Amino acid sequence: MTIFKSFKLITSAALFLIVAIQLPSCKNDPPDGIDSQMYEMGRSESGFIWYKNSSAQLNSSGLTGHSEPKQRTRYNMTAASVLTSEYKIMEGAVFPNGSLIVKELYKSNGNLSTLAMLYKKPDAPEADADGWVWGYFNEKGGVRASASEKGSQCRSCHSQTGAIDFNLMNLAHP
Ligand code: HEC
Repeated sequence: MTIFKSFKLITSAALFLIVAIQLPSCKNDPPDGIDSQMYEMGRSESGFIWYKNSSAQLNSSGLTGHSEPKQRTRYNMTAASVLTSEYKIMEGAVFPNGSLIVKELYKSNGNLSTLAMLYKKPDAPEADADGWVWGYFNEKGGVRASASEKGSQCRSCHSQTGAIDFNLMNLAHP
C-alpha cells in the first residue's frame, strides 16, 4: 500500500467517525422504534374522528400541562369505538388495544407545534403498567419525550380524578 493510499484510508475512516458520532445528537432526526411507528400512524388526520366531531382549535384548559395555547384532539377508529353519540368519551370507558389518540398543540400564531399521543399497546416494551405508550413529538417528528420514558412526565397529571383511562378531554372540555 502506498503512503498516499493509507493516508486516504485514514482520512475517510476519521470522516466516517466524525459523522457517526455527530448523528445521534441531532434533535430533528426522524424518530426510530415505536416513536417512529406512532409518529407515522398519527401525523396525518385521515382515518381519525375529532373530539365532539369538531376540528376547531380549542383554547387549552387551565388544567393543561401543555404550554401551547390552542389544541385539538382526534381518535383513530379503534379509539372512537368508546366515543358517545356526542363524540365525547363514554364514562368509565377503557380504550381497546390499538387505540391511538392524537392531540395537536398549536402556537398562538396558529402554527402546529407539537403532537402528543397515547397509544394502547400493552405488549410494547415501552407500555406503562396500564398498557399506554406515551408519545411527544415536535411538528417535524423530532422526539420531545421518548416513549421509552413510559410517560414519566405525563402520567400523574393524566391520572387525576375525573380522568377516563388517562384521558382528560371530558374533564377539561366538557
Ligand atoms: C399538568 C397536567 C398535564 C401533563 C403533565 C401532561 N398533560 Fe396531556 N393533557 C392535559 C390536559 C388537561 C389535557 C386535555 C386538553 C387540554 O389541554 O386542555 C391533555 C390532553 C392530552 C392528550 C389528548 C387525550 C386526552 O384527552 O387526555 C394527549 C394525547 C396528551 N395530553 C399527552 C400527554 C403527554 C404525552 C404528556 C407527557 C409528555 C402529557 N400529556 C403531559 C394535561 C397534562
